[in-house]
Amino acid sequence: MKILLGVTGGIAAYKAADLARMLVKRGHQVRCCLTEAGSRFITPLTLATLTGEPCFGANPDYHEWRPNPKVEHVDLARWADLVAVVPATADILGKTANGLANDLLSTILLATTGKVLWAPAMNKAMWAHPAVQANVACVRGFGHSIVEPAEGMLACGEEGTGKLAELVDILEAIEALGRPRIPILEGKRILVTAGPTREDLDPVRTLTNRSSGAMGIELARALRDAGAQVHLVLGGDLKAPRGIQVVRVRTPWRINAPSISHPKR
Ligand SMILES: Cc1cc2nc3c(=O)[nH]c(=O)nc-3n(C[C@H](O)[C@H](O)[C@H](O)COP(=O)(O)O)c2cc1C
Repeated sequence: MKILLGVTGGIAAYKAADLARMLVKRGHQVRCCLTEAGSRFITPLTLATLTGEPCFGANPDYHEWRPNPKVEHVDLARWADLVAVVPATADILGKTANGLANDLLSTILLATTGKVLWAPAMNKAMWAHPAVQANVACVRGFGHSIVEPAEGMLACGEEGTGKLAELVDILEAIEALGRPRIPILEGKRILVTAGPTREDLDPVRTLTNRSSGAMGIELARALRDAGAQVHLVLGGDLKAPRGIQVVRVRTPWRINAPSISHPKR
């Protein structure tokens, strides 16, 4: 897939280098576009070296790919199968939600007709702010995908939601967006059940089977990528894919449960 990786001015920008490397390793062609603020956190040289492609953006030295310099934003927007903004600042979300385009990345984001994925990262109060949430809802309304920030220790020293999602989750979301949808499954609600079954006999013993649940999880993932709305009933402890409603099940031991009768000797 041809991926344009937009890197904006958040402290998590350094993680974009790792994501670029992971995407290249998976066989994708990656071109990066740095905002001016992004280039204060990470250098174009790092991204250009890791991707083997020129890095575009605010720094004029890195406007290198110029089949026609007048329409660079359009060329890049047309080139990309997918634009991923990782990390996405409150600022770039606000600009796109409101149709503003005052630098290369924000212009590409308006010029693209392809898929767009955002992985926001910011302070927890910024993320919770109604203006940011309204902008997120707005870009969702454009059909863009969001990999929501995670909870944890933030760069500002606070604890809360705002941390860039795990890179493996962002990578998975990018690849999922790139897979072809299956029209017959689009929007269908599908229930998948995945093992193992676990039924407690008493407080210390459990009846179970050797299922890991992995096959059901992969089915759920494939159905999600094909466009279905998937609900997964999951027996085990494996991590569930994002974008799937999960209900974890286990039949617990109850004090009044009928006890197993043991044969008399
Ligand atoms: C040290 C530092 C860290 C910052 N971290 C973030 C951040 O994590 N998320 C965010 O939305 N803005 C952050 N900002 C603010 C943005 O850099 C600022 O809004 C900038 O204008 C964003 O520009 P851009 O969206 O064009 O990259 C940070 C600013 C500084 C100085």
